[in-house]
Amino acid sequence: MLTLGIESSCDETAAAVVDADRRVRSSVVATQHDLHAEFGGVVPEIASRAHERLILPVVRGAIDKAGIGLSDLTGIAVGHRPGLVGSLLVGISAAKALSWSLGVPLIGVDHVHAHLDAVTLDDEPIEFPAIGLVVSGGHTTLYRMDSPTALTRLGGTIDDAAGEAYDKVAAILGLGHPGGPVVDRLASEPGADDRAFGFPIGLMKKDNLNFSFSGVKTAVLYEARGRPAPPMIPGKPALEVPPVPPMTEERKRDIAASFQRCVCAALLRKTEAAWTRHGPFSTLVVGGGVSANSRLRRELTDLGERLGVPVRVPPMEYCVDNGAMIAGLGTKMLGEGRRDDLSLTAVPTTAC
Ligand code: KG4
Ligand code: ZN
Repeated sequence: MLTLGIESSCDETAAAVVDADRRVRSSVVATQHDLHAEFGGVVPEIASRAHERLILPVVRGAIDKAGIGLSDLTGIAVGHRPGLVGSLLVGISAAKALSWSLGVPLIGVDHVHAHLDAVTLDDEPIEFPAIGLVVSGGHTTLYRMDSPTALTRLGGTIDDAAGEAYDKVAAILGLGHPGGPVVDRLASEPGADDRAFGFPIGLMKKDNLNFSFSGVKTAVLYEARGRPAPPMIPGKPALEVPPVPPMTEERKRDIAASFQRCVCAALLRKTEAAWTRHGPFSTLVVGGGVSANSRLRRELTDLGERLGVPVRVPPMEYCVDNGAMIAGLGTKMLGEGRRDDLSLTAVPTTAC
Protein backbone atom coordinates (compact mmCIF):
# COMPACT_ATOMS: atom_id res chain seq x y z
CA MET A 1 0.00 0.00 0.00
CA LEU A 2 1.37 3.41 -0.99
CA THR A 3 -0.87 6.38 -0.30
CA LEU A 4 -0.32 9.87 -1.64
CA GLY A 5 -1.52 12.51 0.84
CA ILE A 6 -2.36 16.02 -0.34
CA GLU A 7 -2.72 19.01 2.02
CA SER A 8 -3.80 22.51 0.96
CA SER A 9 -6.12 23.73 3.72
CA CYS A 10 -4.33 26.99 4.55
CA ASP A 11 -0.96 28.39 3.51
CA GLU A 12 1.08 25.23 3.00
CA THR A 13 0.93 23.22 -0.22
CA ALA A 14 2.07 19.73 0.75
CA ALA A 15 2.21 16.18 -0.55
CA ALA A 16 3.70 12.97 0.86
CA VAL A 17 3.84 9.24 0.27
CA VAL A 18 3.25 6.92 3.25
CA ASP A 19 3.20 3.11 3.27
CA ALA A 20 1.06 0.60 5.18
CA ASP A 21 3.59 0.50 8.07
CA ARG A 22 3.20 4.26 8.65
CA ARG A 23 6.64 4.87 7.17
CA VAL A 24 6.99 8.22 5.44
CA ARG A 25 8.58 7.57 2.03
CA SER A 26 8.64 11.27 1.12
CA SER A 27 7.22 14.56 2.35
CA VAL A 28 7.32 17.87 0.48
CA VAL A 29 5.99 21.11 1.96
CA ALA A 30 5.93 24.45 0.11
CA THR A 31 5.10 27.25 2.53
CA GLN A 32 3.60 30.53 1.36
CA HIS A 33 4.75 32.54 4.38
CA ASP A 34 6.58 35.12 2.23
CA LEU A 35 3.41 35.87 0.27
CA HIS A 36 1.35 36.62 3.39
CA ALA A 37 4.00 38.24 5.63
CA GLU A 38 3.28 41.84 4.63
CA PHE A 39 -0.40 41.37 5.58
CA GLY A 40 0.37 39.86 9.01
CA GLY A 41 -1.89 36.86 8.30
CA VAL A 42 -3.11 34.52 5.57
CA VAL A 43 -5.00 36.20 2.69
CA PRO A 44 -7.39 33.51 1.36
CA GLU A 45 -7.38 34.55 -2.32
CA ILE A 46 -3.58 34.79 -2.43
CA ALA A 47 -3.39 31.35 -0.76
CA SER A 48 -5.71 29.68 -3.32
CA ARG A 49 -3.78 31.10 -6.26
CA ALA A 50 -0.45 30.00 -4.78
CA HIS A 51 -1.84 26.47 -4.22
CA GLU A 52 -2.83 26.33 -7.92
CA ARG A 53 0.70 27.24 -8.94
CA LEU A 54 2.40 24.86 -6.48
CA ILE A 55 0.21 21.77 -6.35
CA LEU A 56 1.58 19.90 -9.38
CA PRO A 57 5.30 20.54 -8.69
CA VAL A 58 4.77 19.56 -5.04
CA VAL A 59 2.99 16.30 -5.94
CA ARG A 60 5.66 15.54 -8.54
CA GLY A 61 8.34 16.26 -5.91
CA ALA A 62 6.76 13.81 -3.44
CA ILE A 63 6.54 11.05 -6.07
CA ASP A 64 10.15 11.59 -7.23
CA LYS A 65 11.53 11.77 -3.66
CA ALA A 66 9.78 8.49 -2.81
CA GLY A 67 11.54 6.92 -5.80
CA ILE A 68 8.30 5.63 -7.27
CA GLY A 69 6.09 6.33 -10.28
CA LEU A 70 2.47 7.52 -10.16
CA SER A 71 1.35 4.02 -11.16
CA ASP A 72 2.81 2.61 -7.90
CA LEU A 73 0.23 4.54 -5.83
CA THR A 74 -2.61 2.48 -4.38
CA GLY A 75 -4.67 5.33 -2.91
CA ILE A 76 -5.08 9.10 -2.80
CA ALA A 77 -5.90 10.89 0.47
CA VAL A 78 -6.72 14.57 0.64
CA GLY A 79 -7.44 16.98 3.48
CA HIS A 80 -10.98 18.08 2.67
CA ARG A 81 -11.96 19.72 6.01
CA PRO A 82 -11.60 22.11 7.79
CA GLY A 83 -9.87 25.04 6.10
CA LEU A 84 -10.17 27.85 3.59
CA VAL A 85 -12.65 26.70 0.97
CA GLY A 86 -10.73 28.04 -2.04
CA SER A 87 -7.50 26.47 -0.79
CA LEU A 88 -9.09 23.08 0.03
CA LEU A 89 -10.67 22.93 -3.43
CA VAL A 90 -7.26 23.06 -5.15
CA GLY A 91 -6.01 19.97 -3.28
CA ILE A 92 -9.32 18.17 -3.69
CA SER A 93 -9.38 18.79 -7.46
CA ALA A 94 -5.84 17.47 -7.82
CA ALA A 95 -6.67 14.41 -5.68
CA LYS A 96 -9.81 13.61 -7.67
CA ALA A 97 -7.97 13.94 -10.99
CA LEU A 98 -5.23 11.58 -9.80
CA SER A 99 -7.67 9.06 -8.32
CA TRP A 100 -9.82 9.00 -11.47
CA SER A 101 -6.95 8.84 -13.95
CA LEU A 102 -4.97 6.19 -12.01
CA GLY A 103 -8.07 4.16 -11.10
CA VAL A 104 -7.18 4.10 -7.37
CA PRO A 105 -9.47 4.90 -4.41
CA LEU A 106 -9.94 8.40 -3.02
CA ILE A 107 -10.45 9.30 0.65
CA GLY A 108 -11.17 12.66 2.27
CA VAL A 109 -9.39 13.20 5.60
CA ASP A 110 -10.20 15.61 8.44
CA HIS A 111 -7.15 17.84 8.86
CA VAL A 112 -7.62 18.21 12.64
CA HIS A 113 -7.87 14.44 13.18
CA ALA A 114 -4.77 14.03 11.01
CA HIS A 115 -2.81 16.44 13.24
CA LEU A 116 -3.31 13.99 16.14
CA ASP A 117 -2.63 10.88 14.06
CA ALA A 118 0.69 12.48 12.99
CA VAL A 119 2.28 11.04 16.17
CA THR A 120 2.13 7.58 14.57
CA LEU A 121 4.22 8.54 11.51
CA ASP A 122 7.44 6.50 11.52
CA ASP A 123 6.35 5.37 15.00
CA GLU A 124 4.08 3.07 16.99
CA PRO A 125 0.24 3.16 16.87
CA ILE A 126 -1.61 5.11 19.60
CA GLU A 127 -3.02 3.16 22.54
CA PHE A 128 -6.72 4.01 22.99
CA PRO A 129 -8.65 5.52 24.66
CA ALA A 130 -6.46 8.59 24.42
CA ILE A 131 -6.86 12.24 25.24
CA GLY A 132 -6.03 14.46 22.26
CA LEU A 133 -5.03 18.12 22.34
CA VAL A 134 -4.95 19.92 18.98
CA VAL A 135 -3.19 23.28 19.12
CA SER A 136 -2.88 24.94 15.74
CA GLY A 137 -3.41 28.28 14.01
CA GLY A 138 -7.11 27.56 13.55
CA HIS A 139 -7.97 25.15 16.40
CA THR A 140 -7.41 24.59 20.09
CA THR A 141 -9.51 21.60 21.06
CA LEU A 142 -9.46 18.74 23.57
CA TYR A 143 -10.81 15.36 22.44
CA ARG A 144 -11.49 11.92 23.77
CA MET A 145 -10.08 9.56 21.11
CA ASP A 146 -11.43 6.01 20.82
CA SER A 147 -9.77 5.38 17.46
CA PRO A 148 -7.87 7.55 14.96
CA THR A 149 -11.20 8.81 13.59
CA ALA A 150 -13.63 8.40 16.54
CA LEU A 151 -13.16 11.70 18.37
CA THR A 152 -15.46 13.30 20.93
CA ARG A 153 -14.97 16.98 21.68
CA LEU A 154 -14.40 17.71 25.39
CA GLY A 155 -13.68 21.42 25.13
CA GLY A 156 -12.14 24.06 22.91
CA THR A 157 -11.42 27.72 22.45
CA ILE A 158 -14.30 30.15 22.60
CA ASP A 159 -12.36 32.85 20.72
CA ASP A 160 -8.81 32.77 19.32
CA ALA A 161 -6.90 29.55 18.71
CA ALA A 162 -3.56 29.37 20.54
CA GLY A 163 -1.58 29.68 17.27
CA GLU A 164 -3.70 32.62 16.19
CA ALA A 165 -2.88 34.37 19.50
CA TYR A 166 0.83 33.70 18.88
CA ASP A 167 0.54 35.17 15.39
CA LYS A 168 -1.30 38.28 16.61
CA VAL A 169 1.13 38.85 19.47
CA ALA A 170 4.00 38.57 16.99
CA ALA A 171 2.26 41.15 14.76
CA ILE A 172 1.83 43.51 17.76
CA LEU A 173 5.53 43.16 18.60
CA GLY A 174 6.52 43.58 14.92
CA LEU A 175 8.09 40.13 14.69
CA GLY A 176 6.68 38.94 11.33
CA HIS A 177 4.49 36.02 10.28
CA PRO A 178 3.98 33.24 11.28
CA GLY A 179 4.55 34.37 14.83
CA GLY A 180 4.76 31.13 16.81
CA PRO A 181 8.35 30.13 16.05
CA VAL A 182 9.75 33.65 16.56
CA VAL A 183 7.85 34.29 19.83
CA ASP A 184 9.04 30.85 21.01
CA ARG A 185 12.65 31.74 20.12
CA LEU A 186 12.49 35.15 21.80
CA ALA A 187 10.86 33.72 24.94
CA SER A 188 13.60 31.08 25.17
CA GLU A 189 16.50 33.57 25.01
CA PRO A 190 18.73 33.63 28.09
CA GLY A 191 17.53 36.27 30.53
CA ALA A 192 13.92 36.33 29.30
CA ASP A 193 11.71 36.86 32.37
CA ASP A 194 8.40 35.00 32.09
CA ARG A 195 7.12 36.68 35.28
CA ALA A 196 7.84 40.23 34.14
CA PHE A 197 4.18 40.73 33.17
CA GLY A 198 1.16 39.26 34.92
CA PHE A 199 -0.98 38.66 31.83
CA PRO A 200 -4.33 36.95 32.42
CA ILE A 201 -4.88 33.22 31.97
CA GLY A 202 -8.34 32.83 30.41
CA LEU A 203 -11.15 30.71 31.94
CA MET A 204 -9.20 29.58 34.99
CA LYS A 205 -11.93 27.37 36.51
CA LYS A 206 -11.06 23.70 36.15
CA ASP A 207 -14.70 22.62 35.69
CA ASN A 208 -14.72 24.51 32.38
CA LEU A 209 -12.73 22.67 29.71
CA ASN A 210 -12.83 25.57 27.25
CA PHE A 211 -10.01 27.98 26.45
CA SER A 212 -9.91 31.72 25.85
CA PHE A 213 -6.84 33.48 24.45
CA SER A 214 -8.25 36.86 23.44
CA GLY A 215 -7.70 38.35 26.94
CA VAL A 216 -3.98 37.60 27.04
CA LYS A 217 -3.64 38.93 23.48
CA THR A 218 -5.36 42.21 24.40
CA ALA A 219 -3.21 42.51 27.55
CA VAL A 220 -0.11 42.24 25.33
CA LEU A 221 -1.56 44.91 23.02
CA TYR A 222 -2.06 47.30 25.95
CA GLU A 223 1.41 46.60 27.30
CA ALA A 224 2.95 47.32 23.90
CA ARG A 225 0.83 50.27 22.74
CA GLY A 226 -0.74 51.63 25.89
CA ARG A 227 -4.22 51.38 27.39
CA PRO A 228 -7.11 53.26 25.85
CA ALA A 229 -8.00 56.38 27.84
CA PRO A 230 -10.81 55.72 30.34
CA PRO A 231 -14.13 57.46 29.52
CA MET A 232 -14.50 61.05 30.80
CA ILE A 233 -16.76 61.44 33.83
CA PRO A 234 -18.69 64.76 33.60
CA GLY A 235 -17.43 67.28 36.16
CA LYS A 236 -14.27 65.26 36.94
CA PRO A 237 -10.79 65.83 35.51
CA ALA A 238 -9.69 63.43 32.74
CA LEU A 239 -7.90 60.37 34.16
CA GLU A 240 -4.23 60.11 33.33
CA VAL A 241 -3.12 57.25 31.10
CA PRO A 242 0.38 56.14 32.09
CA PRO A 243 2.87 56.59 29.23
CA VAL A 244 4.07 53.43 27.45
CA PRO A 245 7.74 52.68 28.09
CA PRO A 246 9.86 52.42 24.90
CA MET A 247 9.82 48.95 23.34
CA THR A 248 13.35 47.72 23.96
CA GLU A 249 14.59 44.29 22.89
CA GLU A 250 14.58 43.25 26.55
CA ARG A 251 10.94 44.32 26.99
CA LYS A 252 9.92 42.43 23.85
CA ARG A 253 11.66 39.31 25.13
CA ASP A 254 9.93 39.58 28.53
CA ILE A 255 6.51 40.15 26.95
CA ALA A 256 7.05 37.09 24.69
CA ALA A 257 8.12 34.94 27.67
CA SER A 258 5.24 36.11 29.90
CA PHE A 259 2.70 35.57 27.10
CA GLN A 260 4.07 32.09 26.44
CA ARG A 261 3.89 31.17 30.13
CA CYS A 262 0.19 32.11 30.22
CA VAL A 263 -0.72 30.22 27.02
CA CYS A 264 1.11 27.08 28.17
CA ALA A 265 -0.43 27.33 31.66
CA ALA A 266 -3.95 27.39 30.15
CA LEU A 267 -3.22 24.44 27.85
CA LEU A 268 -1.71 22.36 30.65
CA ARG A 269 -4.38 23.23 33.20
CA LYS A 270 -7.29 22.24 30.95
CA THR A 271 -5.58 19.11 29.64
CA GLU A 272 -5.03 17.93 33.21
CA ALA A 273 -8.62 18.88 34.16
CA ALA A 274 -9.99 16.91 31.18
CA TRP A 275 -7.86 13.97 32.23
CA THR A 276 -9.20 14.06 35.77
CA ARG A 277 -12.82 14.50 34.69
CA HIS A 278 -12.95 12.07 31.75
CA GLY A 279 -9.98 9.72 32.33
CA PRO A 280 -8.27 7.44 32.78
CA PHE A 281 -6.73 7.37 29.31
CA SER A 282 -3.88 5.24 27.97
CA THR A 283 -2.10 8.02 26.09
CA LEU A 284 -1.88 11.80 25.86
CA VAL A 285 -1.64 12.83 22.20
CA VAL A 286 -0.78 16.34 21.05
CA GLY A 287 -0.75 17.78 17.53
CA GLY A 288 -0.91 20.97 15.44
CA GLY A 289 1.59 23.77 14.77
CA VAL A 290 1.82 24.98 18.38
CA SER A 291 2.91 21.49 19.49
CA ALA A 292 6.28 22.55 18.02
CA ASN A 293 6.57 25.01 20.92
CA SER A 294 9.59 24.29 23.10
CA ARG A 295 7.99 25.24 26.44
CA LEU A 296 4.75 23.38 25.69
CA ARG A 297 6.65 20.21 24.75
CA ARG A 298 8.68 20.41 27.96
CA GLU A 299 5.67 21.03 30.19
CA LEU A 300 3.61 18.29 28.53
CA THR A 301 6.42 15.82 29.13
CA ASP A 302 6.39 16.80 32.81
CA LEU A 303 2.60 16.46 32.94
CA GLY A 304 2.86 12.97 31.43
CA GLU A 305 5.36 11.97 34.11
CA ARG A 306 3.08 13.33 36.84
CA LEU A 307 0.06 11.47 35.46
CA GLY A 308 2.13 8.37 34.70
CA VAL A 309 1.04 8.28 31.07
CA PRO A 310 2.95 8.28 27.78
CA VAL A 311 2.86 11.65 25.97
CA ARG A 312 2.99 11.48 22.18
CA VAL A 313 4.00 14.67 20.36
CA PRO A 314 4.85 14.56 16.64
CA PRO A 315 8.40 15.10 15.43
CA MET A 316 8.91 18.80 14.59
CA GLU A 317 8.41 18.41 10.83
CA TYR A 318 4.97 16.82 11.34
CA CYS A 319 3.68 19.39 13.88
CA VAL A 320 2.89 22.06 11.30
CA ASP A 321 0.76 21.34 8.22
CA ASN A 322 2.14 18.54 6.05
CA GLY A 323 0.98 15.89 3.59
CA ALA A 324 2.35 12.92 5.56
CA MET A 325 -0.29 13.22 8.30
CA ILE A 326 -3.01 13.21 5.62
CA ALA A 327 -1.47 10.19 3.88
CA GLY A 328 -0.98 8.38 7.22
CA LEU A 329 -4.58 8.72 8.39
CA GLY A 330 -5.84 8.18 4.82
CA THR A 331 -3.97 4.86 4.67
CA LYS A 332 -5.78 3.67 7.80
CA MET A 333 -9.18 4.76 6.48
CA LEU A 334 -8.58 3.09 3.11
CA GLY A 335 -7.42 -0.02 4.99
CA GLU A 336 -10.81 -0.08 6.76
CA GLY A 337 -12.48 -0.08 3.33
CA ARG A 338 -13.62 3.53 3.51
CA ARG A 339 -13.90 5.35 0.17
CA ASP A 340 -15.08 8.68 -1.20
CA ASP A 341 -16.33 9.26 -4.72
CA LEU A 342 -15.88 12.23 -7.01
CA SER A 343 -18.62 14.13 -5.18
CA LEU A 344 -16.11 14.76 -2.34
CA THR A 345 -16.03 18.49 -1.64
CA ALA A 346 -14.48 21.08 0.65
CA VAL A 347 -15.99 21.65 4.10
CA PRO A 348 -14.74 24.72 6.01
CA THR A 349 -15.55 23.35 9.50
CA THR A 350 -14.25 20.33 11.38
CA ALA A 351 -16.45 17.27 12.04
CA CYS A 352 -16.39 17.90 15.82
O1 KG4 B 1 -1.08 23.30 12.31
P1 KG4 B 1 -0.61 24.52 11.60
O2 KG4 B 1 0.58 24.40 10.69
O3 KG4 B 1 -1.76 25.17 10.77
C1 KG4 B 1 -3.10 25.12 11.13
O4 KG4 B 1 -3.72 24.05 10.97
O5 KG4 B 1 -3.55 26.17 11.63
O6 KG4 B 1 -0.31 25.60 12.73
C2 KG4 B 1 0.20 26.86 12.42
C3 KG4 B 1 0.31 27.63 13.71
C4 KG4 B 1 0.68 29.09 13.50
O7 KG4 B 1 -0.22 29.89 14.24
C5 KG4 B 1 2.09 29.17 14.05
O8 KG4 B 1 2.42 30.46 14.56
C6 KG4 B 1 2.06 28.12 15.12
O9 KG4 B 1 1.33 27.06 14.56
N1 KG4 B 1 3.41 27.65 15.52
C7 KG4 B 1 3.91 27.81 16.76
C8 KG4 B 1 5.23 27.29 16.72
N2 KG4 B 1 5.47 26.81 15.45
C9 KG4 B 1 4.33 27.05 14.74
N3 KG4 B 1 3.39 28.34 17.88
C10 KG4 B 1 4.15 28.36 19.00
N4 KG4 B 1 5.42 27.92 19.02
C11 KG4 B 1 6.00 27.37 17.93
N5 KG4 B 1 7.26 26.92 17.98
ZN1 ZN C 1 -3.06 22.39 10.66
